This record gives sequence, structure tokens and C-alpha cells, in this order.
Amino acid sequence: MIIWYSGCGNSRFVADSLAEKLGEKKMLFIPDAARQGTAPEFGQDEILGIVFPVYSWSVPRLVSKFLRTFKFKGKPSYIYVACTCGDQTGYTLKHLKKDLSKNGLELDAFFSFRMPETYINLPGFELDTPENATLKIEQTRIQIDETVRLIKSRTRGNFDKLEGSSAFLKSEILKPLFYGLLITDRKFNVSDDCNGCGLCSRSCPLLNITMENGRPRWNGNCTNCMSCYHRCPTNAVNFGKATLGKGQYFFGKPLSPAHNIEETKKTENRTERKRTEQERTKPI
Ligand SMILES: Cc1cc2nc3c(=O)[nH]c(=O)nc-3n(C[C@H](O)[C@H](O)[C@H](O)COP(=O)(O)O)c2cc1C
Ligand code: SF4
Ligand code: SF4
Repeated sequence: MIIWYSGCGNSRFVADSLAEKLGEKKMLFIPDAARQGTAPEFGQDEILGIVFPVYSWSVPRLVSKFLRTFKFKGKPSYIYVACTCGDQTGYTLKHLKKDLSKNGLELDAFFSFRMPETYINLPGFELDTPENATLKIEQTRIQIDETVRLIKSRTRGNFDKLEGSSAFLKSEILKPLFYGLLITDRKFNVSDDCNGCGLCSRSCPLLNITMENGRPRWNGNCTNCMSCYHRCPTNAVNFGKATLGKGQYFFGKPLSPAHNIEETKKTENRTERKRTEQERTKPI
């Protein structure tokens, strides 16, 4: 089974790629499982994969909470984590081990993948250039093959090469400040370019956006994944003024699985068709 979370699609790409190459059929989207109180069931000798993006050099709070508290039936025989980050993982592994141990679980292998940046809510935080973004994705594709080999042979170890410098400062000191001061949806606003399509609402993994009078309304349960910003087809969403003119990036399927599956399929087909036409002019 792979349990996963993704805002802008990078981690979804890694989760889907691993699932395909490992022949994994059981996928559980963490925000859905958390909402529904799903208890994952593990057969004998089953592997558990956990995939998520790094937030503030650590495990995103919603993932952390899920890993600490979810009830499961049976016990996985091998547990691996694959995280994606824009640049550095900091103490993600350290925090992850703590989360899992609270639930009586022990990690066997830890992998990290550098993927295009999605966080641009502060001055100085920018998207990757299209060339850099493409390069990161290509490197991840290659790395996934090696990761699959290691998972299949149930190799144990820390394969993270992206911890980076000053991890203590970033993961232990800056992270609480980041969550305390910066994670909010109060700064989201929408310009007159909004066409009322509702994609921002349907792409939110936390079902935090409702449409009112043809406009999005943010309802206070936000993790700043930035999906609503990046996926808006008219670039009408902004976070204060910090995101103005910074461009957009997202990977793959536009809608979050948190939304009705049939509706998701229909809209994804429509949007995928539109995207294919645009693909020639877009870097990714
Ligand atoms: C709220 C937030 C915090 C982030 N913090 C970090 C970080 O500490 N280190 C890093 O390298 N990338 C960071 N990023 C970038 C993401 O980890 C990276 O772009 C990831 O691949 C996004 O995955 P997703 O598309 O599955 O949401 C952050 C992104 C967001 C939205
Ligand atoms: S995705 Fe953009 S255009 Fe569509 S409703 Fe949301 S803000 Fe408006
Ligand atoms: S409101 Fe926007 S930034 Fe917040 S969780 Fe939903 S999609 Fe992500």
C-alpha cells in the first residue's frame, strides 16, 4: 500500500510512478483517510510506502498527525518513505522517525527527490526556471528506477542526499515560526480575472475552498500547499502581494482526489485535453 499526500502534483507523480513500477494497487490519499477515519489493512508480508512533500524542512503537519494517530490492521513488513522537496530536507527523517514510533512503527528506508519548487509566498522565494524544473523532473525519473530496485530488494537505509546545511536551525527553530506566523489562508485574494470555473476549489486537498456567487472563498483550513494558486487557469489567485508576477507551476492531474471521483474523471479529461493543446508552448 502507498499512503500519500500532494498539493501541486510532484509527490503524486512520485507515488504514481512507484506504484506503477512496483505493481502496487492500493493507494490511500492521506487527507481523505484522515477525514474518513480509514484504517489501512495490511496483508501478510505487505510493504507500506509513504509519499509526501517536505514542508519547512520537515513532515507536513497533516501528514505528521496522520502517521502518529492512524489505526491500522495488521503490520507492514517493510516501510519506506519517499519525500519530494524543492531543495533541502533538513531533519525530515528525524521528525518522521518520531512520528512513526508514536504509532509503534519503524522506518526501513528513506528516499528524497528534488522536484520543482512550489512555495513562493515570501520575498526571495521563486519558482525554478523552466530548464531547472525539467532537469529536476528528469533526474527524479531516473532516481525512481533505482529506488524501485532498492524497495524490491527491501534494502534498509537512509538514501537522502538532500539534508543540506543548518538543519537544526531550519527544522527546529524556523519550522515552528513558519507554522505559527506564515501558514494561513487569510492572505488569499482573487482578481477580476477570475472566471468562476471552480478549479481552485476542486484542486484543494483539504476541501477548504467553497464557491460563493461564482467566486472562491477560503474557509480557514489551509496548509498553504499552493494548489489553488498554481492551478488557477487565469492566474487570478494571489497570496497577498507576495505571489504577484511569480508565475505558476503544477504537475500532472489538476484535481485533488479529495473530490468526487466521477466528477474528477470528467473534469480531468476535459482539462487534460486542453492542457495537451497548450503543452507545446509550456515548459512542463
Ligand atoms: C508550504 C510549503 C513548504 C515548503 N517547504 C520546503 C522546504 O522546507 N524545503 C524544500 O526543499 N522545499 C520546500 N517546499 C517545496 C516542496 O517541498 C516541493 O516543491 C514539493 O515537491 C511539492 O510537492 P507537491 O507538488 O506534491 O505538493 C515547500 C512547499 C510548500 C508548499
Ligand atoms: S480557479 Fe481561478 S478562475 Fe477558476 S474560480 Fe478559482 S480563482 Fe476563479
Ligand atoms: S486553500 Fe489553497 S493553499 Fe490552502 S490547502 Fe487548499 S489548495 Fe492548498
